[in-house]
Amino acid sequence: MEVRTIGVVGAGQMGCGIAHVAALSGFDVILTDIDTEILDRGRASIASNLDRQIRRGTVDTADRDAVLGRIRTSNRVKDHVDSEMVVESAKEQLDIKAEIFRQLDVTCRKTTILASNTSSISITRLGAVTGRPGGVIGMHFMNPVPMMRLVEVIRGLDTSPETVETVNEVARTMGKTPVECADHPGFVSNRLLMPMINEAVFAVAENVATPQAVDEIMTLGMNHPMGPLALADLIGLDNCLSVMRALQTELGDPKYRPCPLLIQMVDAGRLGRKSGRGFFTYPKG
Ligand SMILES: NC(=O)c1ccc[n+]([C@@H]2O[C@H](COP(=O)([O-])OP(=O)(O)OC[C@H]3O[C@@H](n4cnc5c(N)ncnc54)[C@H](O)[C@@H]3O)[C@@H](O)[C@H]2O)c1
Repeated sequence: MEVRTIGVVGAGQMGCGIAHVAALSGFDVILTDIDTEILDRGRASIASNLDRQIRRGTVDTADRDAVLGRIRTSNRVKDHVDSEMVVESAKEQLDIKAEIFRQLDVTCRKTTILASNTSSISITRLGAVTGRPGGVIGMHFMNPVPMMRLVEVIRGLDTSPETVETVNEVARTMGKTPVECADHPGFVSNRLLMPMINEAVFAVAENVATPQAVDEIMTLGMNHPMGPLALADLIGLDNCLSVMRALQTELGDPKYRPCPLLIQMVDAGRLGRKSGRGFFTYPKG
């Protein structure tokens, strides 16, 4: 199926990144969120990220306005009516995502592919709330979207091969490398990454080392480009906690229990970069 218009639901850090890369790759984009202030901030952040790419010479100045012109914003789900594919990237909460999928199922044409950028929620479960489980799929982008090459493509139990093929093609058009996996808790990326981050939080909680030392050991010693705690701050500690809870509940193994310090930090609103403070602090702007 030919995709020309991509809808993105949720204008947070990931939704804006997906809209940015889709528009840069020539797709028309409709970006929606329940919060119009977030939509305004999202458009401004896409513009400033494009300016950074222009300064680095990876995007042509002449393309800037055309890219921004391809992104429409709205606070109404029904504006996704013309999208051939919609990528949901709203808050990591099953009830919120299920309701969005129900609304998209009613709004969009029967052929429209409904993808989720979820980090941990079952694609099969999201497919089951719609009348088109064959057209529901996981399209898991990495953060920051403009820089990271992987898209993890997740097949729900009923996802059709045609849907997988179209999503792989769209990912390639966006300059990404799609890698497929089945619908299991945490998929591959977060099943491996999040227990490592959780263990790093335990190391801090048990006074094994400071956050700086934990990150330095992993960057210098394991050649990771970023330490696990700086990465947790980038991902959002609320997102990390949601994934650990999903792994714990769905796999039923106590080895996935979230570190109490991670829970406490989320309760305190210390969510990482987006709130200005997590394991490290981030000056405004
Ligand atoms: N942060 C990461 O590193 C990362 C990486 C891969 C995938 N993800 C996934 O991407 C999704 C979004 O994460 P994020 O980090 O961008 O979160 P975020 O908190 O930055 O943004 C979430 C956005 O969803 C919006 N939202 C909430 N309810 C909504 C609704 N009913 N309809 C429309 N919009 C709604 C919020 O207003 C907010 O703008 C999550 O599912 C997360 O697990 C995150």
